[in-house]
Amino acid sequence: MQSKKAWVVLFDSNLELFNDELLDISKHFRKIRRDDLGRRGRPDITHVGVLNVCDFPAYSSGEVGLILHTIEDKVIFIKDSWRPPRNYVNFSSLFVQLLKLGQVPPEGEPILLVKNSALKDVLRNLRVRKVILLSSRGKKVNFEQYLASLKSNAPVAFLVGAYAKGAPRDEILAISDEVISIYGKVLTTNVVVAMLMCYLEKVFL
Ligand SMILES: C[S@@+](CC[C@H](N)C(=O)[O-])C[C@H]1O[C@@H](n2cnc3c(N)ncnc32)[C@H](O)[C@@H]1O
Repeated sequence: MQSKKAWVVLFDSNLELFNDELLDISKHFRKIRRDDLGRRGRPDITHVGVLNVCDFPAYSSGEVGLILHTIEDKVIFIKDSWRPPRNYVNFSSLFVQLLKLGQVPPEGEPILLVKNSALKDVLRNLRVRKVILLSSRGKKVNFEQYLASLKSNAPVAFLVGAYAKGAPRDEILAISDEVISIYGKVLTTNVVVAMLMCYLEKVFL
């Protein structure tokens, strides 16, 4: 694996099994507790977020890596240069297979691998220098200038929520060194990821 300059972590991704499918609010509304509305049942957000990372040259070149953390606190490791399915039905069946079997493909070297490791430990093992949480409730920054000021050889991790609504959980805040807001309003995950990748390419790599 090429050494990374940055990691994008989609945290609290709504990738969880329900009856051999991904729990999806459009099909399983009654199975999602009122308290969990906004937090669970939107695997489509992860799909679009993943495409927005993997379509950038900075990902294909191996300089930026992608990790998925799930709402059930599982961590999904992704082999370099993975090309995610563009079709949502195919994405969904791939992740059902992954969550059931623990890795894809089921035998041999994994392209996708699930572990029950703590995200904090994963980032420490990757020798991440700084963990930056993106949140509309964070310190307002000029994103381009902020990323330019971070430039260095040791990798940095950017945490972006892959869920619909709600403040970051305390567990996520606890592992973050800094919490930044890049815009005066709440943005969607896919816009935040696209801006991050775009500015990383422009001023950070
Ligand atoms: C739809 S939002 C989740 C809602 C939540 N209210 C929030 O902003 O943290 C999905 C993710 O996009 C990122 N995000 C949304 N608006 C942002 C902003 N203005 N600045 C930085 N990150 C933002 C956060 O990582 C958030 O978890």
